[in-house]
Amino acid sequence: MSSKLTYNGKQYTLDEEATLLENLEKQAVSVEFHCRDGHCGACRSQLVSGDVSYTTFPMAYLKDGEVLLCCSKSKKDITIKSLS
Ligand code: FES
Repeated sequence: MSSKLTYNGKQYTLDEEATLLENLEKQAVSVEFHCRDGHCGACRSQLVSGDVSYTTFPMAYLKDGEVLLCCSKSKKDITIKSLS
């Protein structure tokens, strides 16, 4: 059974090899981003449940419970919410 990505209350199939940003883009979900490299923080989102691993060191400032969608992946079910 494949893992699920829940974003703003909607459920999507999770591709574990793609970043969370790529996952949402593939499913035509509109997400804020800019650098796509962990620097600008435009893709910061709230991690509601689950875990991520980073593909590059996240340089942008993150508060507790926030993740950068552009450079993180998940291997299990994950729930995230936009900050705005
Ligand atoms: S798009 Fe810049 S940190 Fe993710």
